[in-house]
Amino acid sequence: MPGSESYDAVRFGPAVESDIDALVSIDRDSPQAWTRAAFAMESEHAPPTLFVLRSSDAPVAFVVTRFVVPDMDIVNLAVARDRRRRGLGRLLLASLLDHAASNRVQSVFLEVREGNQEARRLYRSAGFEETQRRPGFYREPLEDAILMRLAMSHWAGLKGPRNAC
Ligand SMILES: CC(C)(COP(=O)(O)OP(=O)(O)OC[C@H]1O[C@@H](n2cnc3c(N)ncnc32)[C@H](O)[C@@H]1OP(=O)(O)O)[C@@H](O)C(=O)NCCC(=O)NCCS
Repeated sequence: MPGSESYDAVRFGPAVESDIDALVSIDRDSPQAWTRAAFAMESEHAPPTLFVLRSSDAPVAFVVTRFVVPDMDIVNLAVARDRRRRGLGRLLLASLLDHAASNRVQSVFLEVREGNQEARRLYRSAGFEETQRRPGFYREPLEDAILMRLAMSHWAGLKGPRNAC
C-alpha cells in the first residue's frame, strides 16, 4: 500500500496512563474533543474500553468502546493528523473487530457525522451498513448523525499485514 506505515512496528492494545497526553493531542482538533480527565477515566476501565495503536511505543491512534453484551459501540476513534491516509485507521478498526470477534460480540454500532466522508468510507469498507439517520444530532456545527452497524457474522478478519496482538 503506497505511503503505508511499517506495520511491524505498530501494535494494538489497551491504553495506559502514560498514553493519555498523546491521546489528548491526537483528539485536539475533533469537534467535540475529549478532556484529559475523560481519557484518564476511560483508561482505568476493566475490562479495557480504550485501545491504542502504538508505533515505536508512541500512540498514533485510539478507539473508545462500550461493551453492552452481546454488542459493542464505538464511541470515539481517531488517527493522529500527520499519520492519516497510511492505513492506520483501517488497521485500528480491523484490530478492534478481531478483538470483538474473540469476545463473541454480535454487532458493532456507531454514529458518525453526515459530512465525515472519510470515516463513513472507512467504516463501509469494513462492512458497516448505514441503518438510520438522526436529524440534528450533533451540535457545533449542527449536523445529522448516520447510524452504522456491522453484524460480526460478516467480519472476515484482519486482512493484509497482521498485528501482533
Ligand atoms: C477517519 C480516520 C480515522 C481515517 O484514518 P486513516 O488512517 O486516514 O484511514 P486509512 O488510511 O486507514 O484509510 C482507510 C479508508 O478510509 C477512507 N478514507 C480515509 N481518509 C480518507 C479521505 N481523506 N478521503 C476519502 N476517504 C478516506 C478510505 O476508504 C480509505 O481506504 P483507501 O485508502 O483504500 O481509499 C481519520 O481521518 C481521522 O482520525 N479522522 C478524524 C477523527 C474522526 O473523524 N473519527 C471518526 C469519528 S466517527
